[in-house]
Amino acid sequence: MKMRWLAFAAVTAAATAGTSTFLYAQAAAQASSWSGVYSKEQAEHGKALFEENCAKCHQTTLDGMDEIPALKGAHFMANWDKESVNGLMERIHNTMPLDNPGALDSPKATDVAAYLLQQNGMPAGDKPMTPGMLFSIRIDPVKPGG
Ligand code: HEC
Repeated sequence: MKMRWLAFAAVTAAATAGTSTFLYAQAAAQASSWSGVYSKEQAEHGKALFEENCAKCHQTTLDGMDEIPALKGAHFMANWDKESVNGLMERIHNTMPLDNPGALDSPKATDVAAYLLQQNGMPAGDKPMTPGMLFSIRIDPVKPGG
């Protein structure tokens, strides 16, 4: 009886924490980050936000310096291989700028993520990404099959 109650509580807690959405998104097919997942306008907005909030450390070139990692290139992409864009967006939203974490809300962090995809060579499409769809976009370091 006690075990059953615990199981019920666990399921309820998981659902409340949004785990059900997560599991659903994992089960659903993911689109590649190379399939035109963001819009050009969105990347431009992300660029402006980047220059304002991030460039002083990561540089306008995204090359980083000293202890500060580059946000483009093979090493950066290897860190995000097969992760969802949501992971990247959350990383930006929760931990950056390092000296003022949380300064960018989810929509703004999503626009900056679009800019990072663009700077890593991924093409723009017709529609902007929205925070809610990011679990369904997979980061592929290089174009699948290309
Ligand atoms: C004060 C300097 C500073 C600022 C400003 C800053 N960062 Fe960072 N960033 C760092 C450092 C240092 C690291 C590596 C250590 C860490 O992860 O905390 C890092 C790590 C990262 C990573 C992880 C890199 C990887 O290879 O996975 C991302 C993504 C990132 N920053 C994005 C941003 C974005 C986007 C902004 C602006 C919203 C920003 N950062 C602003 C210093 C900074």
